[in-house]
Amino acid sequence: MTVVALVPAAGRGVRLGAGMPKALVQVAGRSLLVRAVGGLLDSGRVHHVVVAAPPDQVDVVERELGEFDAAAVHVVAGGADRTESVRLALAVTERAVPDADVVLVHDAARAFTPPAMIGAVVDAVLGGASAVIPVLPVADTIKQVDEAGAVTATVDRSPLRSVQTPQGFRPGVLRAAYDAAGDAATDDAGLVERAGGEVRTVPGHPNALKITTAFDLAVAESVLAVEPI
Ligand code: C5P
Repeated sequence: MTVVALVPAAGRGVRLGAGMPKALVQVAGRSLLVRAVGGLLDSGRVHHVVVAAPPDQVDVVERELGEFDAAAVHVVAGGADRTESVRLALAVTERAVPDADVVLVHDAARAFTPPAMIGAVVDAVLGGASAVIPVLPVADTIKQVDEAGAVTATVDRSPLRSVQTPQGFRPGVLRAAYDAAGDAATDDAGLVERAGGEVRTVPGHPNALKITTAFDLAVAESVLAVEPI
């Protein structure tokens, strides 16, 4: 049984404003990327990790990941958007690990994802699901508004979920979804849905928050100060 994780980490981190790719930003001495890759390997369920790096920083990212087993962690040049970065990492994976049973796609920005949650996604795919996403209930009240900003409806939030990563797939399902995909998507499972596939859910975790802004980084630093992740 072989599990491969693709880690899109080629974003420029413009919204974070750190002046460097977000994946290389450090929290308490370790970069988001090292934490994300470390969490995948610590789950004990992931055998290979393929990281998509900013194309002009492949060597920087390789050095950054030097603490990990070089046979398990590979770096490829990413693309212009997340979808392209995943597509490039998937192509390398299919050549290097053609017998993979599960492919995970995990944002480097979700650097504090609990390893047990990663295991739960793998188990759900091995249990027969073709696509699996970790989700959380929506805490805020959700309104629908028109172009002028006036409220047109209050949406029932009980069936709504916010989506995290890693998302897990049977390799053929992810390949078919990417082959059918036209435009960029923020969500790999969304491509499976568009292609007519079924997507199952497992419980997500608050620590798997996506670090996007300086505020998110400050939240992660505060959480780390009270509970080492
Ligand atoms: O920008 P956003 O936070 O939505 O990006 C989600 C993930 O996709 C990040 O880990 C980012 O590094 C990655 N990404 C990528 N290639 C791009 C843009 C974003 O791998 N061209």
